[in-house]
Amino acid sequence: MTGQPLPGFRDFYPPEHASLRGIFSAWREASRRSGFSEYEGPELESLELYTEKSGDEIVGQLYHFKDKGDREVALRPEMTPTFARMVAGQHRNYKKPIKWFSIPRLFRYERPQRGRHREHYQWNCDIVGERSPCAEAELIATLCLGLSLLGLGSKDVVVKMSDRGWWDRFLEKHGVKEENKPGVLRVLDRLEGATPEQRKEKLGALAKPVEEAWEGNVHDSEALGEIKSALGKMGYGNWCETDFRIVRGLAYYTGVVFEVHDRAGKLRAVAGGGRYDDLLKKLGGEDLPATGFGMGDAVLGELLRDKKIESGKQEGADLFVVAEGAEKDLALSMVGSLRRAGFAVDYEPGFPKWGKQLELAEAKGARWALLVGREAKDGKVGFKEISTRRQGEARWIGQKDGSICLEPSPGDWAKVLA
Ligand code: HAM
Repeated sequence: MTGQPLPGFRDFYPPEHASLRGIFSAWREASRRSGFSEYEGPELESLELYTEKSGDEIVGQLYHFKDKGDREVALRPEMTPTFARMVAGQHRNYKKPIKWFSIPRLFRYERPQRGRHREHYQWNCDIVGERSPCAEAELIATLCLGLSLLGLGSKDVVVKMSDRGWWDRFLEKHGVKEENKPGVLRVLDRLEGATPEQRKEKLGALAKPVEEAWEGNVHDSEALGEIKSALGKMGYGNWCETDFRIVRGLAYYTGVVFEVHDRAGKLRAVAGGGRYDDLLKKLGGEDLPATGFGMGDAVLGELLRDKKIESGKQEGADLFVVAEGAEKDLALSMVGSLRRAGFAVDYEPGFPKWGKQLELAEAKGARWALLVGREAKDGKVGFKEISTRRQGEARWIGQKDGSICLEPSPGDWAKVLA
């Protein structure tokens, strides 16, 4: 036992977990506002689902093993194959276009570095059954909304869009055979940051036209033009630009692809996605067009830290019941009743000395202390706003059903002290 998690795995202590929950709430809220329904799938899938569909990069990073039933299985490294498998199996039960989202935890055996781990959470939004590029615009608008709910804007991030269909035609024009196209695209995906000499070495005669495309001296494809126009209407025009450097490493993309990057260019991609019109058919399902994206919590968390944005704070209880040992039973009845009435109520079950209970109430960030002392026998209790030390008095009233009511109710204490 080292006291540390495995390399690349993260412990989320309550403060870090509060930040993670803040990110999840923004993702869920953006999905809800944009009409996506939540789904979940299994963490463990058959190895085959990935070896055939994801592409070599992810396959090389799989956590896989044989289970006790001698099946080759893998921890999910991405959600798209599970999503496609689920939709292929049941799409007839759902009206198209299907708009679903999920926040799975994923596992990839990568070299741990800033924003890259061996597990991460990933917000996935996908649309099935819509061929129009408006589907990509809808996805990009949703991810922009999610980022803006966290306090990020077009000055902080940029959505870089490209089109594999455009690259397909480009390679065709330059004489690359169909069977060699995936290999060339893989090389292109890995050439980011390479010197012109290295590019020339890897691409030969293609290096010059590729350079021109990368410099942006080419027109948008029709699909990219439509997406930009729709996003402009939805208020996200200045978040997006064309960048043909984006190719995406995953094997199943067939059309428009996109990535979200920090404007300063310091981090790896915050999100990535694109159109994968053939995947459902390949999984034995119907020929249904599909497109989607995944946004990871880790790079996003780094970006929020850089921008000094707090996505979520650990919250203390609304009130902390502080009681004399002799009033313990009354205090416990109050805890139960107040919790049932909707308040977040904490207390120290050992009921140590009064001062110790108050110290704990403050350390745990409770807003109010409910003081159950000797006068409680006469129906009187005190309340204290911990941050300001201001105090007030309330009466407790036992109800016929055994529950306890406070007068004034804790919801009105701030008004009483004002
Ligand atoms: P991806 O580009 O492999 O796409 O991952 C999407 C995002 O997940 C990345 O931009 C990054 O923020 C985060 N991510 C990936 N790997 C790691 C890691 N090892 N540590 C931390 N964060 C990571 C996909 O996974 C596609 N399945 C997305 C998609 C959905 N395409 C269509 N629908």
